[in-house]
Amino acid sequence: MMVVLLGPPGVGKGTQGAILADDLGWHRLATGDVLRAARREGTQLGREAQRYMDRGDLVPDEIIVGMVRERLESLGADTGVILDGFPRTVPQAEALEEVLGELGAEVDAVLELTAPDDVLVKRISGRRSCAECGRLYNTYFDPPEVDGQCDDCGTSLTHRDDDDAETVAHRLEVYRAQTEPLVEFYRETDAELIRVDGDRSMPDVQAAIRSALEERLGVAGDEEQ
Ligand code: AP5
Repeated sequence: MMVVLLGPPGVGKGTQGAILADDLGWHRLATGDVLRAARREGTQLGREAQRYMDRGDLVPDEIIVGMVRERLESLGADTGVILDGFPRTVPQAEALEEVLGELGAEVDAVLELTAPDDVLVKRISGRRSCAECGRLYNTYFDPPEVDGQCDDCGTSLTHRDDDDAETVAHRLEVYRAQTEPLVEFYRETDAELIRVDGDRSMPDVQAAIRSALEERLGVAGDEEQ
């Protein structure tokens, strides 16, 4: 099974993708997380990606597609996969079809999360993350017990470099221009296109996603099987 998570910056792809992967025992491949890890490690990929990410632009398709191809090939076709933040352009979606064709797989569903821009901007301005364990927090909606410190591992929380107001505004423009056309792209394929209102509490959004996946794909978590 392969599910693509689509949606603008701050809509909750990472939050919902992590819960879903955990509940279903699936693998979550988040291209933004892979790129940030590469930056922290100072690899060639990380250095190449940095200037695009800092400006809020997309990293070139050929870099991203090569990175995703390598990971999907190593996972094989039997693992459930949640793609978070990929594809993000029509050429990336076309390349994904090609890779999956070679692996004997296909995109089963595209989950499009939506929320108004003012909600996205507020969520992003309050986002804090733990560089050690990856846990996400939000100073407005989901704060840590001790200000600035991860509840799980005690590491200091950070604000992403690309989360300043100017870069966020640009990331939203990039989303509308380059990523939103994927909705039309997937309308022409066999994938189930599922739109979920992301402007609700985290548990409510997760419940809507789970019920749509169960209804449209027959996917249920361990506790429901
Ligand atoms: P990426 O890391 O993918 O960023 P993004 O798509 O802009 O999405 P975000 O991570 O900002 O938001 P999210 O939807 O995951 O929301 P989250 O769950 O964190 O990409 C970063 C950059 O990498 C790109 O700009 C590009 O340069 C590059 N890149 C990555 N993939 C690429 C690709 N395929 N091609 C080319 N370049 C690529 O939630 C946000 C906050 O809100 C959190 O604090 C969370 O706690 C809170 N929150 C979540 N849900 C709720 C809720 N329901 N109620 C209240 N608060 C909530």
